Amino acid sequence: MSVTPPLPLSPGESRVLRGLHEQHALGAALAGALPAGSVLFLEGELGAGKTSLTQGLVGAHGFTEPVTSPTYALMNVYPAPGGQVLHVDAYRVRDVQELFEMDLEELVRGSRVSVIEWGEGLYAEYPDAPILRLEHQPDPETRLVTRLR
Ligand SMILES: Nc1ncnc2c1ncn2[C@@H]1O[C@H](COP(=O)(O)OP(=O)(O)OP(=O)(O)O)[C@@H](O)[C@H]1O
Ligand SMILES: [Mg+2]
Repeated sequence: MSVTPPLPLSPGESRVLRGLHEQHALGAALAGALPAGSVLFLEGELGAGKTSLTQGLVGAHGFTEPVTSPTYALMNVYPAPGGQVLHVDAYRVRDVQELFEMDLEELVRGSRVSVIEWGEGLYAEYPDAPILRLEHQPDPETRLVTRLR
């Protein structure tokens, strides 16, 4: 039996992340804390650190190749040794129906964890999924992360 540690942030909580290392470390902590089959939503403007956090999460599952946002493909599947990770970038999606037509639900079910960027249109569909907002700070060497849900 494995014990899942609590998520590193409670709903409503914020934290300053100093440098890429802490961005990766939060992703890695989430990897260990999210139960199998979880969805994680990420929002945040250009350069806020969404891909960096995802890289940390995927890396913690043992997938060491570079991670990039699937802006044009919409979805990437990383065959991590610790379990498949689905990475969705819904920025260019006008209607979430497009994602369902790409078998989103089946891919989520078949993944250890699914990270969905810009997925506001799916928040109601996955009501238990945590939402993290990433923001720039006056200090360019830091980012602010807030768990919205
Ligand atoms: N906590 C942090 N502190 C300082 N720099 C960071 C932090 N997290 C990420 N960065 C840096 O910010 C830059 C942008 O990060 P990243 O590509 O992860 O952002 P993004 O939200 O995915 O952006 P985009 O919307 O353009 O895909 C990278 O150069 C990365 O090294
Ligand atoms: Mg990105």
